[in-house]
Amino acid sequence: MKKICSVVGARPQFIKLAVVSRVLRKEYREVLIHTGQHYDYNMSDVFFYEMDIPHPDYNLGISGGTHGKMTGQMLIALEEVFIREEPDLVLLFGDTNSTMAAALAAVKLHIPVCHVEAGNRFGTLDSPEEVNRIVTDHLSSINLPCTESSLRFLEIEGLKETATIVGDPMYDAFCYYTECLNGDELSEIKSFDGKEIVLPPEFYYMTCHRQENTDTDEKLDGVFSAMEELDAPTIYPVHPRNRERAVKLISKNNYRNILLAQPVGYKTSISLVNKAKKIVTDSGGVQREAFFANKPCVTVLDFVVWPETMRNNCNQLAKPEREDILRKLKTEILFDPTYHPFGDGHSADKIVRIIKEFLE
Ligand code: UD1
Ligand code: UDP
Repeated sequence: MKKICSVVGARPQFIKLAVVSRVLRKEYREVLIHTGQHYDYNMSDVFFYEMDIPHPDYNLGISGGTHGKMTGQMLIALEEVFIREEPDLVLLFGDTNSTMAAALAAVKLHIPVCHVEAGNRFGTLDSPEEVNRIVTDHLSSINLPCTESSLRFLEIEGLKETATIVGDPMYDAFCYYTECLNGDELSEIKSFDGKEIVLPPEFYYMTCHRQENTDTDEKLDGVFSAMEELDAPTIYPVHPRNRERAVKLISKNNYRNILLAQPVGYKTSISLVNKAKKIVTDSGGVQREAFFANKPCVTVLDFVVWPETMRNNCNQLAKPEREDILRKLKTEILFDPTYHPFGDGHSADKIVRIIKEFLE
């Protein structure tokens, strides 16, 4: 049986892996490598546990530090694993430092790389994820964009021959796990002191963790000051990157309408998406989930990542500023039930089929 090394490290990658690994293991021996980039229980283990992802064969324990240091340490450690395991292919997801380090390690050993979620572009190298995406796409033998717009970027960069649209494994996961929700997952939302947060009848769901929005008080407070004004409370599970700043700002400004929570598991997160009035986020995953659930979304970023979600203003960009966010949240939205740009919920089957064609 041929061997495939799948490499993951960060929260959104565990979710994509969950749906792909299940299909992959019917045909291949999968060696699962966790770089350790995310390591808190509620940023890592909870996903393996609740999504039934097999225990990693390796956990490299590499996290934090500068981008260069983290990527460099991963490169060294991944090369050792690939030399030992001699995989026929390395399977990668998304655009984190773990993704790029693995692509570099593999290609230097002449191991082919398959990149799931290839081809997205912001148009600026100021974004660390953009650097990771460009490098990984150009090193991959197989690029698997989710949508037409991602395919177009690959075509422009001369990568057409490597690329096939497969749909979005995040949509597979959303469809599969939405079926498993029974409401219990909503009793697992905890404040930082461990107390259960009881959901109000109406609420907004917010996630905000990107370096661009959270590395200064001014920007994060711009977002908070908008949410504080709304007609219902905001549930905000906070990424560890900016927990300290979030707690400080809420307390300093005496905000009452924003409920800070520990990061939640995947089922809780999609349940919040499904039940929220509207969503405010800077997450690539959450803005798509809002679209899958037909929920109006405001994305606090300067750049369009998923243009398909922007049709009819279903998802709108905003600056991290009170007035802009409030204005965008008021826009009337019309979802088109016939428009399905993220596939049919079976992208994992297509991913494995394409890998099979390549390896044979
Ligand atoms: C990374 C990805 C980003 C993705 C996000 C998903 C890169 C360049 N960015 O950003 O694309 O959206 O993951 O969530 O790879 N930390 C903890 N505990 C954890 C994880 C992180 O305390 O379990 C803290 C560490 O202090 C770390 C900081 O958060 O230094 C930032 O983590 P890092 O993995 O560098 O970047 P993310 O912001 O998570
Ligand atoms: N998510 C989660 N718990 C949280 C916040 C988000 O499970 O506390 C899920 C969310 O529903 C989506 C994914 O994590 O499926 C998005 O990951 P993230 O925002 O960390 O990364 P990005 O998608 O921006 O790369």
